Amino acid sequence: MLSVERLSVRTGPVELVREVSFEIAAGERVGLIGESGSGKSLTALSIMGLLPEGVTAAGRARLGGRDLLGVPERELKGLRGRDVSMVFQEPMTALNPLMRVGAQVAEVMTLHGTPRARARERGLGLLERVRLPRPAQLARAYPHQLSGGQRQRVMLAIALANEPGLLICDEPTTALDVTVQRQMLDLIAEVAPALLFITHDLAVVASVCERVLVMYGGRIVESGPIRQVFTRPRHRYTQGLLAASRLPPRGTRLPTITGSVPPAGGFPDGCVFRNRCPHATEICATEPALTGPTPAEQPRTGDAHAFACWHPAD
Ligand SMILES: Nc1ncnc2c1ncn2[C@@H]1O[C@H](COP(=O)(O)OP(=O)(O)OP(=O)(O)O)[C@@H](O)[C@H]1O
Ligand SMILES: [Mg+2]
Repeated sequence: MLSVERLSVRTGPVELVREVSFEIAAGERVGLIGESGSGKSLTALSIMGLLPEGVTAAGRARLGGRDLLGVPERELKGLRGRDVSMVFQEPMTALNPLMRVGAQVAEVMTLHGTPRARARERGLGLLERVRLPRPAQLARAYPHQLSGGQRQRVMLAIALANEPGLLICDEPTTALDVTVQRQMLDLIAEVAPALLFITHDLAVVASVCERVLVMYGGRIVESGPIRQVFTRPRHRYTQGLLAASRLPPRGTRLPTITGSVPPAGGFPDGCVFRNRCPHATEICATEPALTGPTPAEQPRTGDAHAFACWHPAD
């Protein structure tokens, strides 16, 4: 359904995302994880055609046979929300504070040609679908009158309004408390036609997605079914990320990954993780390809677990 091929994102001479390739099938829920600054949001924004000024994308991102990266801006407006739509972290900034919620949900449909009366009516159905109580009453409220969780549900309703084939969520629940977060995650998993889900939270990915992409330094360093990647991480970065997310036994130190994420353009050549990796050797100065385990190691053919590491963990 979505096929991203060798997506690179740069600003001037600095490469922020490098040759990222992945696919998402209809109905599939894929997580995108990695530390802050690894390029997750830029990958999503490229697909949406929403890159900031001065940042450009190359490569291909095909959705339903169309290359989203090659589409001129005015055509993209038509696709956005129809083929693919996105839910961001902070719903307060994404909603118009001066416009009633119901009108905002309806507007995304009228912009795509739905008659006003029909859009209003469908809008109420959508508010109900994202489990907002008393939709008719809520539709007349302004964003500031809603709770954070309710605002995020409104954003989800807006994202679903034109029945997109793919939903992208970038840290959609970070600003919510844990119980509201849980409900929101269940809802997203239920309503998304196909999902690219960005988060720092590994437990969240494990509960929502079937497959995961691990990003670091603008590259996908490991990918595969959640169970395989989380129970047997092969890339040393993924291993560190998982170790850092577990609660250590009492009295022992919290495991961390040594060093910190360099600023854009500050990653080493070859393996981007080598300056922080305890297993790095000379060969790591050569860039490792993202490939699967050897046939002998594969539990079955068609195994999609892949990693870009010269010294993978056992
Ligand atoms: N408009 C921009 N101009 C220049 N550099 C940028 C721009 N936007 C992002 N970057 C840089 O690109 C890199 C990747 O950014 P990105 O926002 O994709 O990271 P992320 O993985 O989403 O991080 P986080 O988890 O903090 O959201 C970072 O080093 C960031 O500083
Ligand atoms: Mg981000």
